[in-house]
Amino acid sequence: MNLKGRSFLKLLDFTPEEILYLVDLAAELKEKKKKGILTKEYHAGKNVALIFEKTSTRTRCSFEVAAYDLGMGCTYLDPSSSQIGKKESIADTARVLGSMYEGIEYRGFEQEIVEELAKYAGVPVWNGLTNEFHPTQMLADVLTIKEKLGRIKGVKLTYMGDARYNMANSLMVVCAKLGMHFTACTSAKYFPDKALVDTCKEIAAQTGATITLTEDVKEGTKGADVVYTDVWVSMGEPDSVWTERIKELSPYQVNKAAMDNAGPQAIFMHCLPAFHDLKTVIGREISAKFGISEMEVTDEVFESAQSVVFDEAENRMHTIKAVMLATLGVPEQ
Ligand code: CP
Ligand code: NVA
Repeated sequence: MNLKGRSFLKLLDFTPEEILYLVDLAAELKEKKKKGILTKEYHAGKNVALIFEKTSTRTRCSFEVAAYDLGMGCTYLDPSSSQIGKKESIADTARVLGSMYEGIEYRGFEQEIVEELAKYAGVPVWNGLTNEFHPTQMLADVLTIKEKLGRIKGVKLTYMGDARYNMANSLMVVCAKLGMHFTACTSAKYFPDKALVDTCKEIAAQTGATITLTEDVKEGTKGADVVYTDVWVSMGEPDSVWTERIKELSPYQVNKAAMDNAGPQAIFMHCLPAFHDLKTVIGREISAKFGISEMEVTDEVFESAQSVVFDEAENRMHTIKAVMLATLGVPEQ
């Protein structure tokens, strides 16, 4: 397997074997890290640029720690401190950064921006989240599923909430690629884009995966091995959508009833950050306005033994390290 020189923009660009290779490479890197085996000689002296047009905790820290662990330096560019998009086009930025750095991470808005960056950079570009896709999160999630359930193929994953955005899109693609059973359990208005559903169904026909869309919570969560959710309002969306989201997505909150209906084998997953209590500024603002103290997941489920959200978060670092290592080149052992 040789992914050297490739960009990592969306999982549709990768074969099932390539995706599983990255997950296995991450598991190896995780084991090395736990044993204190250093990997700093792998890419010593190289540098990566991290562009964040949206905020981040996990993704930024994962790229930074992974870069340091691989011996690389990194530069973090936040939305306000660079010329990107405002005074300089993506194509020009790509050529400038591509001449100084060995790789570029981009988190921002439309998928076409990260695709454009990759077209002009001349070095690998890694998608750290766009409106449409969050591919590095998928590797962490698959690694977590493998660790917790001991298998990937045939796993039944149910996503509840806004299934039209980056997380559900990406989960549907990864399930299709890896022969998993994906269900979007939400109001029909929030079903994923039909063209992407059709593409995933075509892939699923080759891998044994299935793609199901249902509005019925009982049917959608029955027997699920993984119950997954995400925030009801994503970064970059206007505050004005909160009212309709709370009204329309509340029936699809992940609560004890949904987990009980899935069964005791089920794990709860969330990319984080999550609104499960009143310990955040936005959580308190929403509570004051709408009178609710929990949103996409109840605190009870979030804190339960079935919740693996912090394992997922840790696995972001190991999987992002695998993506950088594979695309910059795995040294001969
Ligand atoms: N899951 C995730 O992408 O988290 P951050 O927004 O903190 O990077
Ligand atoms: N859908 C969320 C994912 C955050 C990791 C967002 O785009 O804000």
